[in-house]
Amino acid sequence: MKKLATLCCTAIMVIGMTATISFAEGNGAGIVGSPHDFSDRTWNTSGEICRVCHVPHDFGSNRADFGLLWNHDLSSSTYLMYAEDSHANFIDGAAEPEPMGVSKLCLGCHDGTIGIDQFDGNSGSIYIDSFAGGQFQIPGIPDVSGDKNMSNTHPISIEYNNVADPNLWDPTTRVMGLSGTISDVLDNGRVQCSSCHDVHDQESVPNTHLLRVAQSANQGGTASGLCLTCHIK
Ligand code: HEC
Ligand code: HEC
Ligand code: HEC
Ligand code: HEC
Repeated sequence: MKKLATLCCTAIMVIGMTATISFAEGNGAGIVGSPHDFSDRTWNTSGEICRVCHVPHDFGSNRADFGLLWNHDLSSSTYLMYAEDSHANFIDGAAEPEPMGVSKLCLGCHDGTIGIDQFDGNSGSIYIDSFAGGQFQIPGIPDVSGDKNMSNTHPISIEYNNVADPNLWDPTTRVMGLSGTISDVLDNGRVQCSSCHDVHDQESVPNTHLLRVAQSANQGGTASGLCLTCHIK
């Protein structure tokens, strides 16, 4: 009986641990201990947090010409964008033919072609599909004619134009969670990955996928709160 009880407790612990791992989301308290804190990984030999993405000086390995003192390799993939494909007629704002700006930085890890450890000029050995069963790979769907298929993901590198699309709130006055106004989360006037997610987990809602605004009452907000922050619906 005692043995059974022990077994039973072990099983509960294992289930508990699995749940903790699959909910390894942000806590809204900054990058330390957040999903993007890789300071404790064996492959991160300097043990620094920022260095995986930013470096203070160009040692010949960084991508500083991209801005933000970027130190991580970028993907050379091409993408089928939402605004290309047959969806083009739905779009009112100006659409980029390929991801640019901040989205390009995120895709350098998240599209699965470049190693998470591919910074400081290192070659890659660990990829996004090895985290959380691959659910963090964006896009996670098969390529189309050699292009990564972004046509079924929210438009990115898309102009936020509330004149061309009057069903968008005024970005200069509409508050975006703790991040200021919508304008503050645009990148050169465009929606990027970073418009919805806070990579540093500073202004994001705890226990979400680093979202700037909660999407449900469970997350402490209102239903589809993030979507309704930008879209008048
Ligand atoms: C996983 C990659 C990653 C890590 C690690 C990271 N950053 Fe960033 N950082 C980004 C990206 C992407 C941007 C641009 C998007 C944005 O600002 O939301 C950025 C932007 C910035 C900016 C300019 C915009 C702003 O938010 O003020 C600063 C400053 C910055 N990071 C500092 C840091 C520091 C300091 C650390 C370490 C404590 C750090 N970052 C760790 C990815 C990272
Ligand atoms: C318009 C807002 C928006 C944009 C833009 C956006 N996301 Fe998301 N993302 C979300 C929301 C909302 C969720 C949570 C989805 C859910 O719970 O099903 C999410 C989930 C995720 C997840 C977790 C996936 C999972 O299934 O666990 C990752 C990783 C992610 N996004 C990365 C990205 C990257 C990289 C980009 C840019 C290429 C991006 N996102 C652009 C809103 C956005
Ligand atoms: C250096 C590589 C790298 C870069 C650059 C990067 N990420 Fe990530 N991201 C990861 C890894 C690895 C994970 C999974 C972490 C884990 O679960 O331990 C992750 C997790 C996430 C998650 C899910 C968090 C969770 O647990 O719910 C989101 C959302 C996300 N990233 C968005 C972004 C966005 C948006 C950008 C750009 C602004 C970005 N990432 C840039 C490597 C990166
Ligand atoms: C940061 C602001 C922002 C957020 C948050 C946001 N969107 Fe968008 N969304 C846009 C912009 C800008 C466009 C492009 C509009 C255009 O030019 O037609 C767009 C386009 C779309 C489209 C395509 C419409 C079309 O005309 O083709 C859909 C559908 C959509 N968003 C749904 C959502 C949903 C669902 C959410 C929440 C998960 C969301 N959006 C969150 C800004 C946002």
